[in-house]
Amino acid sequence: MQNIKGKVVAITGVSSGIGQATARMLAALGAKVVLGARRADRLEALVHQITKAGGEAVYQVTDIKQRNDLTRLVSFACTTFGRLDVFINNAGISHLSRIDELQVDDWEEMIDVNLKGTLYGIAAALPVFKVQGSGHIINIISTSGIKIVPLQGVYAGTKNAVRTISEALRQESGGKYRITSISPGMVRTEFVDNLKNLEMKDNIKQKMEQMAISPDDIAGAVAYTISQPHNVDVGDIVIRPTVQD
Ligand SMILES: NC(=O)c1ccc[n+]([C@@H]2O[C@H](COP(=O)([O-])OP(=O)(O)OC[C@H]3O[C@@H](n4cnc5c(N)ncnc54)[C@H](OP(=O)(O)O)[C@@H]3O)[C@@H](O)[C@H]2O)c1
Repeated sequence: MQNIKGKVVAITGVSSGIGQATARMLAALGAKVVLGARRADRLEALVHQITKAGGEAVYQVTDIKQRNDLTRLVSFACTTFGRLDVFINNAGISHLSRIDELQVDDWEEMIDVNLKGTLYGIAAALPVFKVQGSGHIINIISTSGIKIVPLQGVYAGTKNAVRTISEALRQESGGKYRITSISPGMVRTEFVDNLKNLEMKDNIKQKMEQMAISPDDIAGAVAYTISQPHNVDVGDIVIRPTVQD
């Protein structure tokens, strides 16, 4: 893995799952990682583990529903390490329900976190990238937006909005910034723990135990995209269990 050592990488949603695995892997490859999520105890523990293993990491409690929190995360990266090379919009949530159940509060939360939170991340990182003349945005999307199925309509909608925005941003970047979208399939994380419908939660947990891939598999894909030479933009990666429909 070339081109990762020394890069400053800010990542949201690092207190578990894909974000945590990505932070660990990138730090082990020599990146300076700037960690954001809401649970301070987990952030502190992760920074401790990374620094104990010889890596460089700092954290700031961040709620991506708050635009200022993202701006502060990017500023913190720049004041601590002098620049920002990569911003990874990873934090996300899922509520599954039929659309005619009208779980409007859940819809709004997914829009606030998955869509607006990602836009706030982009809005925080781009001014720094403009000044530097370079930068890399990585958005963690989902295969839910590729194979559309019942119960995931609004979740998939938020993820596909990010897919659309990523492609427009890529075209607008004038060859200066790299934009990558990574769509994981089923990954073994705490993602299902948020599900309110207990029957659905048990079913998905069972399926996850049988077929899900590891968060490290997604972290490896993230590292691959960052490691490419600056003139190589890996646009889209879909990475799912071999047995996933
Ligand atoms: N697991 C899968 O099968 C799967 C499949 C496709 C796509 N994805 C996507 O992968 C990404 C990571 O999910 P995961 O599977 O690793 O789930 P996870 O283990 O539940 O991790 C989600 C992370 O997002 C953070 N988060 C949630 N709301 C936040 C907020 N308002 N502000 C800041 N951080 C917030 C959580 O931290 P705090 O609670 O501490 O804030 C946590 O660190 C998500 O975007 C998800 O949509 C997952």
